[in-house]
Amino acid sequence: MKKPIYLDNAATSFPKPPQVTEAIIHYMNEVGANPGRSGHQLSIEASRVVQHTRESLATLFHISDTKRIVFTMNVTEALNTVIYGFLNAGDNVIISAMEHNSVLRPLKHLEESDFITLTIAPCDRKGLLDIDALPALVRKNTSLLVLNHASNVCGTIQDVRAVKDVIGDIPLLLDTAQTSGCYPIDVKDDGIDFLAFTGHKGLLGPQGTGGLYIREGLNVRPLKRGGTGSISEKFQQPDFLPDALESGTQNNVGIAGLGAGVDFILNEGVNIIRKHEKGLTSALLKALHDVPGLTIYGPLDAELQTATISLTFDSILPTGPGHELGGCGAINLAWMEEGIPLDAAGDMLNSEYDIFVRIGLHCAPLAHKTLGTFPEGTVRISMGYFNTLQDMESAAKAIRNIAEK
Ligand SMILES: Cc1ncc(COP(=O)(O)O)c(C=O)c1O
Repeated sequence: MKKPIYLDNAATSFPKPPQVTEAIIHYMNEVGANPGRSGHQLSIEASRVVQHTRESLATLFHISDTKRIVFTMNVTEALNTVIYGFLNAGDNVIISAMEHNSVLRPLKHLEESDFITLTIAPCDRKGLLDIDALPALVRKNTSLLVLNHASNVCGTIQDVRAVKDVIGDIPLLLDTAQTSGCYPIDVKDDGIDFLAFTGHKGLLGPQGTGGLYIREGLNVRPLKRGGTGSISEKFQQPDFLPDALESGTQNNVGIAGLGAGVDFILNEGVNIIRKHEKGLTSALLKALHDVPGLTIYGPLDAELQTATISLTFDSILPTGPGHELGGCGAINLAWMEEGIPLDAAGDMLNSEYDIFVRIGLHCAPLAHKTLGTFPEGTVRISMGYFNTLQDMESAAKAIRNIAEK
């Protein structure tokens, strides 16, 4: 029997390190209690587990004060927490043209309610933000810039430091859904004011975990208010972190697993993980670059992207300004063919080759508009730390066979 090949790590990473499952089972069987609520031994142990995860995340992202990390269900909740809890009426927000719906939808909601104005900063056909265009977009009332660190569609990595240098004091909210755990991040060096992360992708933790780092000096109103286990005598929500933004019992089982995922990453080393994923990306790009009947989007360079590759089974280039030979990241320009529909390609990869990828818009219609792949979308192949060069060979062979059809 063929070994199934999971290439959908941009949706959620799989498999997880065994330590993650062990930590979850340990918490369920041996700890179980509610952290920060009771004074008994098991509650103290639960608090220790949760604090350990906070410390490991602080180490990973170079955060000096663990109290400034709050846990959320996922990055969507972390992003919503800042968007609804930091912005004020009349503010202007700048986003890139590569944002995910987790950013776009809450901001569009606020814009359509006439609460804020929204400015979309242009990106090129490879998904790279035009940093030179930013100064002209900044207004007196611009109070936040939200940036997708790396595209979940085609992997394009943005230069966060360069963006921060241009926007100066305007707070930067970074969506690290596709980079945390597999790309080095340093909140100080990179100039990140709010860092939103999800636990179940590169951080190798379970689904239902994530969080937010908030730089000292920035205040965020809570989305929810309720029990925190602290200053219970008061009717008002605590005003100190992390309690101010952590109402109700958290997904502590998941947080235990997330801690094990982050510890795994710290033990391996982010740079080693990045190197391995770069190797996979360049191997796949190299194997696919001369396949007739295939168009690949994005930077086409493992240095400039995460281990995510988007393609369509045709050679019909997206049209539009700024396009030049390879300028949109498309290759195989000469071969003009009627394409294979994406769902058919996805089905073939699934049923004939046991290769699991994601097709469509990947919750990022704006990014696909930027790349010229809207509304059909692309086939997205996203690798993880546990994929091998052998997997890349098998995937390339399957894709080549499909393209030849
Ligand atoms: C760039 C980006 N932002 C946000 C999200 C939302 O992630 P989650 O479902 O974990 O909140 C994703 C996941 O697909 C993503 O890739």
